[in-house]
Amino acid sequence: MSPASTDGGGRAPVAEVGRTIVSEEQINARVAELGAQITEDFAGTRPLLVAVLRGAYIFLADLSRAIDLQVEIDFMAVSSYGNATTSSGVVRILKDLDEDLEGRHVIVVEDIIDSGLTLSYLRRNLANRGAASVDVCALLVREGRQKVDQDLRYVGFEIPPDFVVGYGLDVSGRYRNLSYIAEFVGGDGH
Ligand code: IMP
Ligand code: MG
Repeated sequence: MSPASTDGGGRAPVAEVGRTIVSEEQINARVAELGAQITEDFAGTRPLLVAVLRGAYIFLADLSRAIDLQVEIDFMAVSSYGNATTSSGVVRILKDLDEDLEGRHVIVVEDIIDSGLTLSYLRRNLANRGAASVDVCALLVREGRQKVDQDLRYVGFEIPPDFVVGYGLDVSGRYRNLSYIAEFVGGDGH
């Protein structure tokens, strides 16, 4: 048995990971609340949770288990055209849904809404496939950045402008596996 160590047992260096923006306890409590609200709002239906890969994967796993309904899940992967730092709103579908949306109550599960342009495209796209309803459940919304008005029915937390990592969110593929959300201090994040 190796002795307990202060770095949690040999984790990678975390010099780039700054202050905690949302703690694990706060996330757990809010996800439970969101799940209870969705359970109430969608009682008697079988909602289809559509997670946008890859950032929403942990949120989806926890949220789906906090919903006491026969939910189904599906995944989409998208990428924005244009340069890497600004979302152009023109979205390319890299992986499409497997499920037919006709008559389904769809809840789009997103990690973070920044400009909102990606989501805006997705909503139109999903609504055009005959879904009975399309709602959004976003873990995070960055304050003051949305370029398009969004009707965000479920929001976990509003956060300041800092680039964040953890709980599914990455910078260059890293730090998705942190159990909390932290400020990224290793650059501009892009
Ligand atoms: P939007 O189209 O500008 O709203 O782009 C939102 C997407 O950008 C999110 O789904 C994330 O994939 C990514 N993103 C935005 N802000 C952050 C962040 O602070 N950390 C990690 N990914 C982010
Ligand atoms: Mg994303």
